[in-house]
Amino acid sequence: MASQAYTFLQGNFAPVDQEVTVTELRVEGSIPDSLQGRYVRTGPNPIGAAGANYHWFAGSGMLHGVRLDGGRALWYRNRWVRSPEVTAALGEPAVPLADGGIFPGLGNTNIVQHAGSLWALMETSLPYEISPELDTLRSWNFGGELPWGINAHPKFDPAKGEMHVLAYGFAEPYVLYHLIDASGQLVRTEPIAVGGPVMVHDMGLTESKVVVFDLPVLFNLELAMAGTPLPFAWDPTYTPRIGVMPRTGTGADTVWVELDDPCYVYHPLNAYDDGDQVVIDLVVHPRAFDDDEFHDPSQGTPTLHRWTVDLVAGRVNDEVIDDRGQEFPRGDERIASKRHRYGYSLANSSLEALGGIGANATTSLLKHDLEIGTTIERPFGPGLIGSEFVFVPAGESAGEDEGYLMGFAYDKVRDASDLLILDAHDFGGPPVASVHLPVRVPQGFHGNWIPDQLLS
Ligand SMILES: [Fe+2]
Repeated sequence: MASQAYTFLQGNFAPVDQEVTVTELRVEGSIPDSLQGRYVRTGPNPIGAAGANYHWFAGSGMLHGVRLDGGRALWYRNRWVRSPEVTAALGEPAVPLADGGIFPGLGNTNIVQHAGSLWALMETSLPYEISPELDTLRSWNFGGELPWGINAHPKFDPAKGEMHVLAYGFAEPYVLYHLIDASGQLVRTEPIAVGGPVMVHDMGLTESKVVVFDLPVLFNLELAMAGTPLPFAWDPTYTPRIGVMPRTGTGADTVWVELDDPCYVYHPLNAYDDGDQVVIDLVVHPRAFDDDEFHDPSQGTPTLHRWTVDLVAGRVNDEVIDDRGQEFPRGDERIASKRHRYGYSLANSSLEALGGIGANATTSLLKHDLEIGTTIERPFGPGLIGSEFVFVPAGESAGEDEGYLMGFAYDKVRDASDLLILDAHDFGGPPVASVHLPVRVPQGFHGNWIPDQLLS
C-alpha cells in the first residue's frame, strides 16, 4: 500500500495557511439563545511544507472556534497551538514549557475544559493551556510529575469535578493513571502494568472503575530508528486484553480480561457499572497500523459494539450494535460514566470520505438509541462533509437527547465550512442554524462546547 501522506494533504485534509479572525458571519436559521459559549475543535494543520512522510496524526495542532452569544455568532477564529515547532516557524518567542511529557506535543487531538481553563491535548505530551480567545498560554503539568504527559481523552467526573487520565510510555509499566482534582492539581498517580508498549489512545471511566485498553498496536523501535513518523505497528501475536481498575484501588488491583479477537479501539462512547459488570459502548477497528508503510490508522470497517465485561467470570461479551462504518462516537457528557441511552457518531469515516476526496465522498451522522436498539442515519447532504459532532444540552434541566448536535461540516461547493447546529430530537430535520464561515476548517479530530460559565 502506498504512503497515505498524499491522502492526508488532499481535499479537506489540506492545511490552511492563515490565522483569521472573522466577526461578520452569515447565519442561516436561528441560533438558540441558550447557547452561550464557544465551540472549539482542534486538528492537525502542518505548518510549512509537509514532507512525503507526513502523517495526519503528527501535524501541528490548529484550533478552530466559534463564539455564540445571545442568538448571535460573534466570531470565528483559528489559531495554531504554539508548540515549539510552531513558534519557531512563526518566529515568535516560545511559550513557557513545564517539565514533563515524552515529546513537546502539538495539541492537535482534543481540547477540553478543566479547572476554569481550556487545554489542548495530544498523547505522550503535556497539555497546552489555551485562552478563551484561543491563544496558547503555556504547557502545564498540573503541579506534579507527568513523565509521559497525558492522553488526549481525559474522562470527567461531573459530580466531583475530577479529571481522570491515562498516559502511556515506552518503558515498564507502560501505562500511568493520573487523577487531577477540581482545582487543577495532580493528586494521584497509579502505575498500570500492561503487556507491552501499546498505544493507548483513550480510556473508560465508570462511577467506580477505570478501564484500560491493552490492544495490539505497539511502539516499534525499528520503525522509530528508521524515521517512521508514527512508529507503531499491529502485532497479531499480542494478547488483547481489557483492564479494569477500581477507582479507589491501585494499579495492582486491576482485573485483566482477555478478548477473543484482536482489535483496536480509539474511542469509547461511554462506560458504566452494572452490578459486577462493566458495560462499554465503543467503536471497534478490526486492525490498525497493519499495512506495509505503517501509516494507515485503521484496516477493516470500524463498527459500534457493546462490550459487557463480567469481572467475576473474567469474560467479555461482544455485541455488535451497528455494523455501519463509523467513528467519533459522542454522548451527553453530563451522564458520562453513568448508564446512557443515546449516542451519536459519524458514519462512513473512511479517509476518502472524511477528506471529501472524490465526487462520491459522503458522510452522515448517526443517532443510536441504545435502549430500544435503533439507529437513525442523517446524511449531511450533497457536498457536505461532516466531522465529529458533540451533544449540547438545551438547558440545565434538559434530559438526555434534549438539545443540539454541533460540529463543522465542509461545503465542497463553497470550499468553506459551516458550524451546523442540529436539533437532536428532530434529527432528520433541517439544521436549527448554519453558521457559514468564510474559510475552510480542515478535517480534524475532537472538539467540545464550552459554556461561558465554565471559563474563569
Ligand atoms: Fe481521539
